[in-house]
Amino acid sequence: MSVAFVGDEGRPPDPAMEDPCAERTVVGARLRETTDGPDVDVFMAGTVFIDMIFTGLRRLPPPGTELLSEGLGTAPGGIANLAVAMSRLGLSVGLAAAFGDDIFGAYLWRTLAEQEGVDLDWSRRLGGWPTPVTVSFSYDADRSMVTYHQPLPYPPEQLAECPPRAKTCVVHIDRQVPEWAIRMRAAGTTVFADVGWDPTEAWSSDLLDRLALVDVFLPNAVEAMAYTRTDSPHAALEALAGHVPVVAVKMGEAGAIAIDATTGEYARADALPIRPLDPTGAGDVFAAAFVFGSLAGLSLPERLRFANLCAGLSVRHHSGSLGAPCWGEIASFGQESELPADVLAEYGFVVPYIPEAPTDTVTRAEPTVRYGPPTPT
Ligand SMILES: Nc1ncnc2c1ncn2[C@@H]1O[C@H](COP(=O)(O)OP(=O)(O)OP(=O)(O)O)[C@@H](O)[C@H]1O
Ligand SMILES: [Mg+2]
Repeated sequence: MSVAFVGDEGRPPDPAMEDPCAERTVVGARLRETTDGPDVDVFMAGTVFIDMIFTGLRRLPPPGTELLSEGLGTAPGGIANLAVAMSRLGLSVGLAAAFGDDIFGAYLWRTLAEQEGVDLDWSRRLGGWPTPVTVSFSYDADRSMVTYHQPLPYPPEQLAECPPRAKTCVVHIDRQVPEWAIRMRAAGTTVFADVGWDPTEAWSSDLLDRLALVDVFLPNAVEAMAYTRTDSPHAALEALAGHVPVVAVKMGEAGAIAIDATTGEYARADALPIRPLDPTGAGDVFAAAFVFGSLAGLSLPERLRFANLCAGLSVRHHSGSLGAPCWGEIASFGQESELPADVLAEYGFVVPYIPEAPTDTVTRAEPTVRYGPPTPT
């Protein structure tokens, strides 16, 4: 990290919006060479937050005190995590979200559209609605968060009333599958679904019925076992495979397992052996890579390995959308990692997707979070 004065005195900052992952366009174009038709590779709708992550705290501040944090990351959060992870892999992404008519909303819009190449044609600015904010305090291996979120004045589904033609879309099925996704599926879009922790802990089995409306389901092991009333990830996987064509169960540092019920294939893949820093958001990166692998026509075991690879790379950073891997990071991990050759060889199928560029011109996204004081130039 180098620091220098830029711009003229007395003028407002004009933040740089350079693409930190320039190779994404090369990979995306290659992926689309073989397929044509839809407007975007993947469509999604949801709420974008501005995330501020204070890192390196030894504890939370006791009442009436102030602590200095070692680092601070600011990034688009919420549905933006998924949109950015997809776009960084080269997929064309359409996002329907509301943006606050304030300076945070402007930052989020510009970062997503100009820096990360997310297509916001289906998004709207909403006068008088404040941008949702999450402040997160990261200490030891834990996090505490405070969120401010004014509900939208209309149902969020309304934003996606006129979705694009898309090869895939991603929905959360904690609640009803949105009407727009049902219509897209009828028009040929492959629907990928994720869930989250159920705060009521009722784990209603209605979820299993909703699986009839989607094509691919990507829960984590805890969610999968809770919804199927099973006591092992494998048992949960098998139970879910009776409800949905493709299911992958994410198992954190144990990797992931999957079944394609249409072919009867079963696959298991280890997690990337890395030192984890922050697993938050890994599920979104996993989903992005799984969608990429599906569109690229990878086999089920390869899709799982690629998803573990990308999610594992993201776990090495304090997450937030801007910690999602670019192809440059995937390339340099392959070149610089100290993994045993036989482990690296398992990811050999990824090599043809890596854009040809000398290592020193393959860009790598700046980490969002800085540690300690910046180094002067
Ligand atoms: N400690 C880890 N080491 C290596 N890879 C990891 C680790 N934790 C998570 N991952 C990777 O991230 C994937 C998704 O993580 P996880 O199983 O926690 O999903 P999740 O609970 O949906 O995540 P999220 O908290 O983002 O919702 C895993 O399948 C694995 O590939
Ligand atoms: Mg999850």
